[in-house]
Amino acid sequence: MKKILHIISSVKGKDSFSIKLADALIDKLSSVYRVENVHTHDLTKSPFPHLEETHLGSFYTPDEARTAEQKEAVSHSEQSVKELMEADIIVIGVPIYNFNIPSTLKAWIDHVVRAGFTFSYKDGVPKGLFTDKKVFLAISSGGVFSDGPLKNYDFAEPYLRYILGFIGLTDITTFRIEGMMMPEFKDIAVQKAIDSINNYEYEAMTAQV
Ligand SMILES: Cc1cc2nc3c(=O)[nH]c(=O)nc-3n(C[C@H](O)[C@H](O)[C@H](O)COP(=O)(O)O)c2cc1C
Repeated sequence: MKKILHIISSVKGKDSFSIKLADALIDKLSSVYRVENVHTHDLTKSPFPHLEETHLGSFYTPDEARTAEQKEAVSHSEQSVKELMEADIIVIGVPIYNFNIPSTLKAWIDHVVRAGFTFSYKDGVPKGLFTDKKVFLAISSGGVFSDGPLKNYDFAEPYLRYILGFIGLTDITTFRIEGMMMPEFKDIAVQKAIDSINNYEYEAMTAQV
């Protein structure tokens, strides 16, 4: 049985295309795999705080030596990593804001990516903590970034691939609703994205039950 973690970072709620895309994907995943539960973390409703000095101090202090303030500070990181650990499949909804990911999603990443906790350096080579998890990115944007003149300005997807890969989340598939602000794309963008979800070949997962 598979557990899905759904991360939301659009502020638009029911009008959000990244949420629509992620929801359609989760429906599809539920028909392909035996899904036990979907845990949704809406970063716009339960955001992780921007990193402050106390957070950094808590990251580099052993648990037994942490002050009460540091224990509170590290609890966000522990929660975000626990949610990831418990999931077999992670679906991240990503609206493009100003050519990048929303700051709420970056704040989440800053609590997840921690030296000695979710990655280590062995012989100068980074090694991620996570293994055997699938990640799906559900990206929505006003422009078209998968191809054409804006392709070189796609900072979000390459960044997410790199930083998630850094902590061992290397199996990443991207679906996009793109061109929502372009008349020639906006009427077909949603259907095209849904088709790509339906036509994708979902692999069997290891230890599938
Ligand atoms: C604050 C803000 C900034 C945006 N910046 C960009 C951008 O840089 N490039 C782009 O293609 N679309 C941009 N958009 C359009 C969104 O990416 C588009 O509306 C997308 O559907 C948002 O995802 P959502 O519907 O899940 O909220 C921006 C929208 C907002 C609200």
